[in-house]
Amino acid sequence: MRITTTVNGERHQVDDVWEGESLLYVLRERMGLPGSKNACEQGECGSCTVMLDGVPVCACLVAAGQAEGREVVTVEGLADAEALHPVQTAFVDAGAVQCGFCTPGLVVAAADLLQRSPRPSDPEIREALAGNLCRCTGYEKILAAVRLAAARMSGAEVTR
Ligand code: FES
Ligand code: FES
Repeated sequence: MRITTTVNGERHQVDDVWEGESLLYVLRERMGLPGSKNACEQGECGSCTVMLDGVPVCACLVAAGQAEGREVVTVEGLADAEALHPVQTAFVDAGAVQCGFCTPGLVVAAADLLQRSPRPSDPEIREALAGNLCRCTGYEKILAAVRLAAARMSGAEVTR
């Protein structure tokens, strides 16, 4: 089947998509967007998190056909031509990236949180990222990165 969807602001048309193909597969293997990671393919780890019509979803659990006519934003779409998204910069600055496999999903989920709640409490951050697993960092630096991004994005004084 043919899928037409908008990804990171660009219209994409993909032919010969099998009915069982996931959105994650189409993004990575057919559209050349490998930022969303494939770790579990079971909706358990969140490494494949993308925005679908403004809602974070596990792309491995979304059938490609469900994205027909809809808007997808991947981690590649958060940065603009000039600069990384502040959440991306904060992850680097806070040392929240080790192997990096979980990072794209966490960055998408954190960016979504900060859009909804610019100064989240720690429990809010934990809840927003509860579906994203990381086996390297112990999560503390991830929390620090989200706090840092929130402070920078809201223009608050930052002490690290
Ligand atoms: S790869 Fe989709 S949740 Fe793990
Ligand atoms: S940095 Fe390795 S899984 Fe999170």
